[in-house]
Amino acid sequence: MGGLDTLRQEFRRRFGAEPRAFRAPGRVNLIGGHVDYNEGWVLPLAIDRDCFVLASARADRRLRIHSREFDETAEATLTAPLPGEHHWSRYVFGVAWALGEIGVPVAGADLLVASDVPPGGGLSSSAALEVSTALALAGLAGVSLDRAALARACQRAESEFVGMRCGIMDQLASCFGQPDHALLIDCRRLDVRPVPLDSSRVRVVVANTMTSHALAASAYNRRREECEDAVRRIAAIKPEVGALRDVTWEQIASLAESWPDTVRRRARHVTGEMARVHAAAAALERGDYESLGRLMLEAHRSLDEDYEVSSAGLNLMVELGRELPGVLGARMTGGGFGGSTVNLVRAEAAGDFAASLARLYEGRTGIVPQITACRPGDGAAEIL
Ligand code: GLA
Repeated sequence: MGGLDTLRQEFRRRFGAEPRAFRAPGRVNLIGGHVDYNEGWVLPLAIDRDCFVLASARADRRLRIHSREFDETAEATLTAPLPGEHHWSRYVFGVAWALGEIGVPVAGADLLVASDVPPGGGLSSSAALEVSTALALAGLAGVSLDRAALARACQRAESEFVGMRCGIMDQLASCFGQPDHALLIDCRRLDVRPVPLDSSRVRVVVANTMTSHALAASAYNRRREECEDAVRRIAAIKPEVGALRDVTWEQIASLAESWPDTVRRRARHVTGEMARVHAAAAALERGDYESLGRLMLEAHRSLDEDYEVSSAGLNLMVELGRELPGVLGARMTGGGFGGSTVNLVRAEAAGDFAASLARLYEGRTGIVPQITACRPGDGAAEIL
């Protein structure tokens, strides 16, 4: 990607102005899959890979954005129609819109975007782009938003503007990341509690299957509807229930016997996963990485069988990974239907683990996977 100095030079060359620089990290979720939009608890970490946005104000109302990754410039007036449906720039325009909605006086700007968060791999390159853009546009407007409000605006951009009805985990993780810590996030209260993760004992290794599913966004949105269906059924009897967060599986298991099988299994995953997140955070607190790893494996099975968001490639990557020396746990991470697995590996075994997993996966599929050892990194900030 080149260092920050190279980016500053490119910005000056391209836009003829001196930029301010902002960064926001991607994230990987250790456990708590498809729980955030059910207002429950998740346990991600921000990673040591960032999306950088360099920015300077313009005198007019135009937003001009150059993406290094796509080697493409997108440009539009803030209030005018925007480029095609699935274009990368919609995340940026979406953030400008969402900030405007909460009263930030967003003005025209030139932006240079460069990211070392691998795209499409389940590391939330989109949240990293949204959060770094939001910091930049709010910064240029002279507004300092609190982090939860910033994350909320970014989530709104993605769900209401881009059309992927995501939860708020990725944006919160990107905003609140801390070196050497995972984050226990309460997605209803937007409360974030850092929990130490000792990199001298364990490494978090992300394995990208290099597979994706064209219908992932619609399948994701359908899972949300199925959860909403479950909540309506519960609320008909217990009106105080507003989300699956408000119940345990034990409380609803007998009620769920009469539900359509799909809805019952979705609710079983979400409620079970929330219990696993609490157990995982407690295990992490006491440095019990073996228990955390076991919970990750259970989570994967539930995501595969009850929530049905895994894929052949993800299952294979988990199966291959869990047999290797030094591994403690493995599961799919992110939205699913392709993308990456997250593996918890003893620190001393992490190098061999990555090499062996890559070789085995390629041997079975002919696809060269991308394997990334991550460390918990710092949350989003302006680079001064
Ligand atoms: C995607 C979404 C998140 C979350 C995960 C699944 O990454 O962006 O909000 O729902 O899927 O846990």
